[in-house]
Amino acid sequence: MQHYDLFIGGKTTKPASNKWFDTSNPYTGEVWAKIPYGDASDVDRAVTAARTAGDGWAAMKASQRGHLLMKLADLLERNAERLAEIEVRDNGKLYAEMLGQMKYIPQWYRYYGGLADKVEGAVIPTDKTGIFNFTRHEPLGVVAMITPWNSPLFLLSFKLAPALAAGNTAVIKPSEFTSASALEFAQLCSEAGLPDGVVNVVTGFGADTGAALVAHPDVAMVAFTGSDAAGQKIYEQAAKDLKHVSLELGGKSPNIVFADADMEAAVVGAISGIFAATGQTCIAGSRLLLQRSIHDQFVEKLLAMAKTAKIGDPMKADTNVGPVTTPPQYKKVLDYIEIAKKEGAKCVLGGAPYAGPGASGGQLVQPTIFTGVRNDMRIAQEEVFGPILSVIPFEDEADAIKIANDVKFGLAAGVWTSDVGRMIRMSEKLRVGTVWVNTYRAFSYMSPFGGYKRSGLGRENGLDAIKGFLQTKTVWIATERNVASPFVMK
Ligand code: NAI
Ligand code: MG
Repeated sequence: MQHYDLFIGGKTTKPASNKWFDTSNPYTGEVWAKIPYGDASDVDRAVTAARTAGDGWAAMKASQRGHLLMKLADLLERNAERLAEIEVRDNGKLYAEMLGQMKYIPQWYRYYGGLADKVEGAVIPTDKTGIFNFTRHEPLGVVAMITPWNSPLFLLSFKLAPALAAGNTAVIKPSEFTSASALEFAQLCSEAGLPDGVVNVVTGFGADTGAALVAHPDVAMVAFTGSDAAGQKIYEQAAKDLKHVSLELGGKSPNIVFADADMEAAVVGAISGIFAATGQTCIAGSRLLLQRSIHDQFVEKLLAMAKTAKIGDPMKADTNVGPVTTPPQYKKVLDYIEIAKKEGAKCVLGGAPYAGPGASGGQLVQPTIFTGVRNDMRIAQEEVFGPILSVIPFEDEADAIKIANDVKFGLAAGVWTSDVGRMIRMSEKLRVGTVWVNTYRAFSYMSPFGGYKRSGLGRENGLDAIKGFLQTKTVWIATERNVASPFVMK
């Protein structure tokens, strides 16, 4: 049994509560590690360590800060296999997917490390005479980072790399279901030479440990990824102190297939949209919108391919669909299958826990497809976060747009068509932060990502993301002596 401690001020440290909680392997159901239960006093210690480290970190030459982030990238690269294995043990995602993420994560630290010394203010040629005007971009201070269980270190890096490059320090509260990797990651930050207190990790549950962190008066910003429900609570709490907030929340993304699409590619896209990662991604293409003229033929092809998906051990190279990560999530997925059936949707694949070859005592669900779904059903409106696909027919472009936009979320959409004009029209009219055309689930540290509507606030990744962790200071310096009337604006 692995036994972890908190990571505060560059050192491992026991939680004040002297309590630990279990974390389990979703595939076997076995408890494999003890995670420290941090309380408000631990949060306070971590925020104080981050605040204390902040002055030195912000004052460090930006190129030196960038250099340290690049050293961290090299260390992460060397530890990719080990970290991927920890992620799989804790969240049950495919090893192939997690190893891919771990090998990609170093790029975030290289990209934003390289950007650290390119944060430039401006000299503004204002219309005032006798005053010199310029801007500087300064860090916010301590950033609280609250992350989910589906891609723990990947989603953390979206926040941590630009925040550190900008000169902020961090207190991380990972998901209570997948805390181990953040605690391991923090050790690598020290090994890379990041000063003590720049990166701190306090583990615990959302309602107490997470809430204490959000409410801490010395936290300047909360960067959150998770459910819209928790995002709303965090936003409300942060509003009390007018803290900066970024929110990357859920989705109910449509994958829209027109009759003129490359059918083979669209079938692969539909499957990757919902069954990859066992549907546990914010960008899951959980609504498949099919033009009516190709509906039956497409569903037939979709079923043929979905049936070949191999369910089981996420560590095995030939597994396609692993377990659902958390026990409450497992229950939620099964509950939604019942809700969809009661609503009158037709289950044409799966619809039950998986107990075939490779079943393990863990949280396995059969890939499930519902046809005959109406967009006003709960199964089409609410985020399930599991391998459940809702198929909805549409008539024409206008109908597709209406259905696609008729949800509270707006994270992403897929469009499958061979008509270039339609690609442009659809990308204009879809109320979402990312539109994929004839592809799905493409991601890069260089390209902005974030949500419209209830899918979130702010953008992660890309050049501009670093601005979310900076504030602008404007400086006016008189170049001429000025003793004009004090009662009139300059
Ligand atoms: P959650 O949103 O409750 O938890 C995410 C993180 O927020 C965790 O670290 C948790 O401890 C923390 N947290 C929760 N409430 C908090 C509060 N009041 N103050 C501070 N921190 C708080 O997500 P959960 O329970 O893990 O999953 C529930 C649902 O959320 C899923 O079924 C799915 O629909 C959605 N989800 C969306 C994700 C995304 O990438 N957008 C990722 C994970 C879940
Ligand atoms: Mg776990």
